[in-house]
Amino acid sequence: MSKELKIILIGAGNVGFHLGKKLHEVGLEIKQVYSRKISKAKRLSKILKCEAIQKLDNISTGADLYILAVPDSAIEKVAADLSNKIPKSKLVVHTSGATPSTVLKPYFKNYGIFYPLQTFSIGREVNFENIPICIDSNLKKHRTLLERLGKLISQNVHQINDRERAILHVAAVFVNNFSNNLFTIGEKITSTENLPFDILKPLIKETVDKISQHSPSTMQTGPAKRGDEITIELHLKYLEKNFPEFIKVYQTMTQNINSKFSKNNS
Ligand SMILES: NC(=O)c1ccc[n+]([C@@H]2O[C@H](COP(=O)([O-])OP(=O)(O)OC[C@H]3O[C@@H](n4cnc5c(N)ncnc54)[C@H](OP(=O)(O)O)[C@@H]3O)[C@@H](O)[C@H]2O)c1
Repeated sequence: MSKELKIILIGAGNVGFHLGKKLHEVGLEIKQVYSRKISKAKRLSKILKCEAIQKLDNISTGADLYILAVPDSAIEKVAADLSNKIPKSKLVVHTSGATPSTVLKPYFKNYGIFYPLQTFSIGREVNFENIPICIDSNLKKHRTLLERLGKLISQNVHQINDRERAILHVAAVFVNNFSNNLFTIGEKITSTENLPFDILKPLIKETVDKISQHSPSTMQTGPAKRGDEITIELHLKYLEKNFPEFIKVYQTMTQNINSKFSKNNS
């Protein structure tokens, strides 16, 4: 892969920030960073030693690859606006797991995906080495180019089509977004009751560590798995009194772990 590839980053949020930093670190040139709030663009452009822009009017036509790292809901609108500023032959990709590549098709002849399957937050360092990079494009030559680009930053690069990526994204929402929300519930309960959330951290860690060697379906434990109805009733009574907002989640998870509880709680 030629390090001569010039990139423009549209979006300087969680993904734009980390992806931009990594691409810069491996020696690629990021020509410009765009964000509607110039402070966000500048925060990243300082690190990437490039120009920060807040208007697509100022975008350079001199890049080889345009990466859209904007919210899913903004991708099509930004692509439409961008298509009035740069030639339609430019290669434009987005970084979304849930959005089909074909949203870019009406606007660009060469389009694709560069989706890093990981959770990113500014302020939290990430190690790209094993992050799955899911790439795709309408042209084979660009699939090859994006694959090579992916391999510069990760050893875990996959060609994944729109359907497969959408499915992976559903699964990713369960394993990451939902499990993180469950941790948040645990934190809320412990902090409200003046108990340390830290005491649960070895349990959280072991839950995740276990599945590196076993299927999670064989590692399930807890009252729902064992069918401990008395314990479940105690938990529900406690929640009713203290955290009624979590009852539905508790019941849904319990039913999903053990279908025997479906009738009782429906
Ligand atoms: N965060 C993750 O963990 C993660 C992981 C993998 C993939 N992704 C995908 O990556 C993409 C970006 O996600 P993110 O988490 O980086 O989002 P984000 O942190 O909200 O950043 C989005 C960027 O787009 C700009 N933006 C927001 N609305 C816009 C609009 N209507 N028009 C133009 N620019 C707009 C934002 O800044 P301004 O408000 O200054 O314009 C910011 O620069 C999404 O497609 C997401 O699904 C996210």
